[in-house]
Amino acid sequence: MSPLQAVVGVKFKMSNLAKSGIKNAYLFYEKLINPRFYNLRKSTNGMLLPLVYKKIYNLHYQLPDLDIIEVGGATGAGSIAIAWALKEAKKHSKLIVVEKCKGGTRTDIGGYDENLKLIQSHFEQFGVHEQIILFPYELTFDNGKEATALVKSPEIAAFIHDADGRLDRDFFLFYPLLQPGGLIVIDDYANEAKYKPISERHPQGGAKSVITYRLLNQIIEWGLFETTHKIGKTIFGVKPLNADFSRLDLEKCRQIIKEVQQERIASLKSREAVLSPI
Ligand SMILES: C[S@@+](CC[C@H](N)C(=O)[O-])C[C@H]1O[C@@H](n2cnc3c(N)ncnc32)[C@H](O)[C@@H]1O
Repeated sequence: MSPLQAVVGVKFKMSNLAKSGIKNAYLFYEKLINPRFYNLRKSTNGMLLPLVYKKIYNLHYQLPDLDIIEVGGATGAGSIAIAWALKEAKKHSKLIVVEKCKGGTRTDIGGYDENLKLIQSHFEQFGVHEQIILFPYELTFDNGKEATALVKSPEIAAFIHDADGRLDRDFFLFYPLLQPGGLIVIDDYANEAKYKPISERHPQGGAKSVITYRLLNQIIEWGLFETTHKIGKTIFGVKPLNADFSRLDLEKCRQIIKEVQQERIASLKSREAVLSPI
């Protein structure tokens, strides 16, 4: 390791330590003021803040009795918050949870079977298995119709994306089903590049947030999303009443994703050049 690499490594570790200290102090505060969603996050290893789960619960509680689609269930924390809202508001509609159960953060748990068992066991444990229909596959443009076929209401009340940043796919598949004024929740809306080589653990090569950020900014420009709230990197919005779906230009979205991936490759190359010993 070169001296430069050592200095960069130490600085990186220090800033990570400071960040995790602040986060732990904040979580302690949430434990006191928001115990229900703190405990949900803790028992399921949820990846969002308890405050975000509470907001998700409150917003979904108020929605009309129509089905909801969530992409990126992971271990089920967000899904349970939504399903609690359906159950406690005495609605008959279902939440369709799309979760591929493998790769990315799921490798921390194990393979497909372990991940599937874990999310299903959380739905049972938190008493919401009757509110949820699980689509345990990777969502693509090709199999999207199989997921939307699970919707039994004439429209959906909301869709949530906390997955791989492919808002183009989810807007293409779900937006026409979403009622006017319907809720859209998107996580990882941050212009934060964490570029790294693509691997099973990092299928987007650390570009997920930047892809989400740029795609959503474009979608906002097309008048398809109106922001209502933002908590950290989670953004909440609605489908404007005068939204024109024909403005969603998939070719433009592909171009945005390609540009981000080119930036990622260039950044890795320049980092390699700076850090490599002379
Ligand atoms: C950040 S986690 C979701 C966290 C979860 N919402 C929570 O409350 O803890 C993202 C999840 O999206 C899933 N995912 C990513 N791309 C997907 C896709 N195309 N189809 C289905 N699931 C996907 C991953 O497997 C991962 O479990």
